[in-house]
Amino acid sequence: MNILLTGGAGYIGSHTTIEFIEAGHGVVIVDNFANSNPLVLKRIEEICRQKIPFYNINVADVVKLDEVFYKHKIDAVIHFAGLKAVGESVKIPVKYYRNNIDSTLALLEIMEKHNVNKLIFSSSATVYGEINNIPYIETMPTGHCSNPYAWTKLFIEQILKDVAAVNQDFSVVLLRYFNPVGAHPSGKTGENPNGIPNNLFPYISQVAVGKLVELKIFGNDYPTKDGTGVRDYIHVTDLAKGHVAALEYAKRHKGAEAINLGTGIGCSVLEIVKTFEKANKIKIPYQIVGRRAGDLAEYYADVSKAALLLKWKTQKTLEDMCRDTWRWQMQNPNGYN
Ligand code: NAD
Ligand code: UD1
Repeated sequence: MNILLTGGAGYIGSHTTIEFIEAGHGVVIVDNFANSNPLVLKRIEEICRQKIPFYNINVADVVKLDEVFYKHKIDAVIHFAGLKAVGESVKIPVKYYRNNIDSTLALLEIMEKHNVNKLIFSSSATVYGEINNIPYIETMPTGHCSNPYAWTKLFIEQILKDVAAVNQDFSVVLLRYFNPVGAHPSGKTGENPNGIPNNLFPYISQVAVGKLVELKIFGNDYPTKDGTGVRDYIHVTDLAKGHVAALEYAKRHKGAEAINLGTGIGCSVLEIVKTFEKANKIKIPYQIVGRRAGDLAEYYADVSKAALLLKWKTQKTLEDMCRDTWRWQMQNPNGYN
């Protein structure tokens, strides 16, 4: 099939591009580099040993998006394009709603015009909000989100469900990612945050490489196994393969389906630090500080729906996530810059 990846130059999009090509599909990428770097395309082409059609456009630009659909016969779309910084979304909510929702609406209009009916959407575990017990199951209520970024995911899920309700040919999979981490095993592609990272894995790897002095662990007084926060970390290549499986599912089924992508295992911050140290034979200095506002104590996925419907489960271990993160960081101390 010929797959369009919006936001395909981003962290998850770049790794998913590689997996689709390895699975024998054709790909076309659109991205406006709002949060990515043109060099990533060169790296993907090196890994896949082929040229990839790319368009530097804003997905919300219907005229330019239309041209891409005229130029290429698109069979399905994977929609990654979106802004994702939680803290920033609180400060500039209009920009987040405008970008994430407009791009989705533009994409839906153009897909309908060109009779493209298969869509995989990058949703997030954040839609489960702050009210549910763990593990998170797809049948649980959503909402009670704590920031505009999370609301954009929930609103887009609703828009896509509404479209599926009236278009009997439409098939959409809402993939709710847990915590994607790691990098391609080649060390050529990985996560490339701007400035000081907010998330745990990029922060640890910048401590390991000496760019940051020590990790600050946000709280050790949570009601968890060792007092530090617990999350479901998933290797980005496992996550990427989940999209290939989701597309196979979308080919067989109509309607809208929300599916968790995680390992089903919760890991604490201290467990991550210890595993990173052991896997890479490197010391991570850390200090316990106060809790970060907005953090939940613990959550992880129930992954039985993904196993049942997608016939997919993760293969990589926490050691793999730590090793591949470190390889990427060592080979690219300044990311793609
Ligand atoms: P990313 O920022 O690396 O990738 C997003 C890409 O979309 C970037 O390359 C950016 O330049 C592009 N983009 C943004 N707005 C655009 C627009 N209007 N037109 C064209 N391109 C645009 O983020 P990521 O980590 O790869 O995440 C991909 C998707 O998965 C996002 O929708 C994100 O919200 C979602 N998600 C990410 C995580 C995570 O932890 N990384 C977790 C849950 C969900
Ligand atoms: C964050 C986002 C979430 C997004 C996810 C993607 C927030 C509030 N939430 O979730 O919307 O889907 O990233 O991966 O930003 N930690 C430290 N020190 C650090 C960084 C993190 O102790 O320097 C701890 C956190 O308290 C948390 C765990 O590490 O317990 C994971 O944090 P992080 O990687 O930021 O992810 P989330 O908070 O789960």
